[in-house]
Amino acid sequence: MTQARIEFTNQTVIVTGAGSGLGRTYALEIARRGGNVVVNDLGGSVAGQGASPDSANAVVEEIRRAGGKAVANGDDVASPAGARRIVECALDSFGRLDAVINNAGNMRAGTFETLTFDDLNSLLAVHVGGAFNVTQAAWPHLVARGGGRVVFTSSGAGIFGVENLSAYGAAKGAVAGLMHVLALEGARHGILCNAILPNAGTRMTSIFKPGALGENPWAAKLGSTFAPEFTTALTLYLASTACHDSHGIYSAVGGRVARAFIGVANGWQGSREVPPTVEDIAAHWQAIRDDSKGYAIPASLADENRVVVEALGL
Ligand code: NAI
Repeated sequence: MTQARIEFTNQTVIVTGAGSGLGRTYALEIARRGGNVVVNDLGGSVAGQGASPDSANAVVEEIRRAGGKAVANGDDVASPAGARRIVECALDSFGRLDAVINNAGNMRAGTFETLTFDDLNSLLAVHVGGAFNVTQAAWPHLVARGGGRVVFTSSGAGIFGVENLSAYGAAKGAVAGLMHVLALEGARHGILCNAILPNAGTRMTSIFKPGALGENPWAAKLGSTFAPEFTTALTLYLASTACHDSHGIYSAVGGRVARAFIGVANGWQGSREVPPTVEDIAAHWQAIRDDSKGYAIPASLADENRVVVEALGL
């Protein structure tokens, strides 16, 4: 069966942090598929210090040499004014905006004892603040167009956990939380929001010494599938009009792409007349933890209420 090629012709996509790593591959591939790309990158260090226009300019050069359309932007996603300029850049350069890929990110690693409040704030500002700012600046334009796509970059560090990335994991978990809520608010406007969990060898991950993130005997077996290009297609699909799903988290590891989800086990139903005692919790602990008897994947906070109401037959 021949598959229809997924094109971005006449569409404009903002890719934040597109000067290197994963974001660079997104920008190149969107341009190859006919899209106009805003290549945003602050151009600082992995830790998030300094700034330089060089990396964004280099990616734009690469796209233009190959016959694609792109414009560079060096604004800081952590600044609301910077985020507004990124969106203005898209509209001034190409006259429209169709999708945002929130990819920009910095990294601070270390044991919990060594990480500082400044480290936490720096990561929150870029990962959560950046995704919040750029999406908020883009939102009214997507609403006016009748919809769009927003891709958020979460991480297995925030969803599943990994040692020595407490501040980073907190920020990436928050990015997933932002996506969950904006997927609900975006639904009535046709704005589809999804998040990805990449696993790629990039400038960011190259700073880790072996074992720095705890024992992972499996990574070495996955070899070349850590190339950023193994995540590119998933992100492009979510940013394209071919995708009609919202409110999902998708993981790419070792060439496998899969939905990740937060489920709630059937659990233990206590009395609805009298609140449970601590002893009741202890007595039913196995049932509370048991995920082998079924689970639900709530589509919202209200939907989790529905699951319980229906289980009770109310
Ligand atoms: P990278 O370091 O190559 O790319 C991140 C880019 O974001 C850099 O070019 C950097 O200059 C830019 N950036 C940082 N702060 C910025 C700011 N305030 N404003 C604008 N641009 C800024 O790293 P990589 O791996 O490509 O990371 C891309 C995204 O994927 C990040 O959000 C990262 O946290 C996330 N991620 C990466 C994983 C991996 O295995 N590489 C795993 C999970 C998530």
